[in-house]
Amino acid sequence: MLILSLKNITAGYAKAIVLEDMNLDIHEGECHAVLGPNGAGKSTLLKVITGSVIPAKGSIFFLGNEITGRKTFEIARMGVSLSPENRRLFPDLSVKENLEIAMVYESTKSKKNSMDFVFEIFPRLKERITQKAGTMSGGEQQMLAIGRAIMLNPKVLLLDEPSMGLAHVIKEQIFEGIKKIRSTGKTILIVEQDATMVMPIADKISIFEHGKIKWEGNPKDLTKDNSIRNAYLGI
Ligand SMILES: Nc1ncnc2c1ncn2[C@@H]1O[C@H](COP(=O)(O)OP(=O)(O)OP(=O)(O)O)[C@@H](O)[C@H]1O
Ligand SMILES: [Mg+2]
Repeated sequence: MLILSLKNITAGYAKAIVLEDMNLDIHEGECHAVLGPNGAGKSTLLKVITGSVIPAKGSIFFLGNEITGRKTFEIARMGVSLSPENRRLFPDLSVKENLEIAMVYESTKSKKNSMDFVFEIFPRLKERITQKAGTMSGGEQQMLAIGRAIMLNPKVLLLDEPSMGLAHVIKEQIFEGIKKIRSTGKTILIVEQDATMVMPIADKISIFEHGKIKWEGNPKDLTKDNSIRNAYLGI
């Protein structure tokens, strides 16, 4: 079943077109990775899906219903959750408070259940439950951003470059957590520049360049295709 479907999306900022006539389908239960260089339009794609950038042309469907032009909070409430590029944590709030902030209207019990799930994914966060987010390491902050995005048990989880700026060993910890989330059957759309981290966990890969999809397929085909890897990923 299709969970997200973008049809002929053209979108950008002021006069600059970033995504051009893009079609993209995300299937339920899959981990779909979007790879591509700086400025390819990866974050813009996630902003279009979450309603913070309204497309100039085209339509977005979530579980068969058109959501083009809907408000960000409505789309979030439907079950689309984003862990953003710049993490956007509340630096002066603790780990617990950052996690709970998405759940102000939920019961204490459901808050606890969600938090227990997050701590299963990233046990490090449990050890640091009272620490202020702003004083944590980059890797821990990334864990918290992803943790916050899964608190409301979204139908689809959008991850914007979770490995950005992190050392290899920390990237591995982050991807270990993402693998655990994937194993629960959650649909994931992950945007990355580090192809080697994302290829082992992806079911499908789309390579973006200059706002267009240059290649689409599964990781196995990408492993075999040296020319595509060299041209677009430099690996
Ligand atoms: N708020 C904005 N206003 C104007 N232009 C923007 C804005 N945000 C992004 N852009 C431009 O849109 C283009 C695509 O940006 P986007 O952030 O989607 O790329 P990206 O693939 O996520 O890159 P990166 O890997 O560096 O995060 C870039 O040329 C960028 O300068
Ligand atoms: Mg980006």
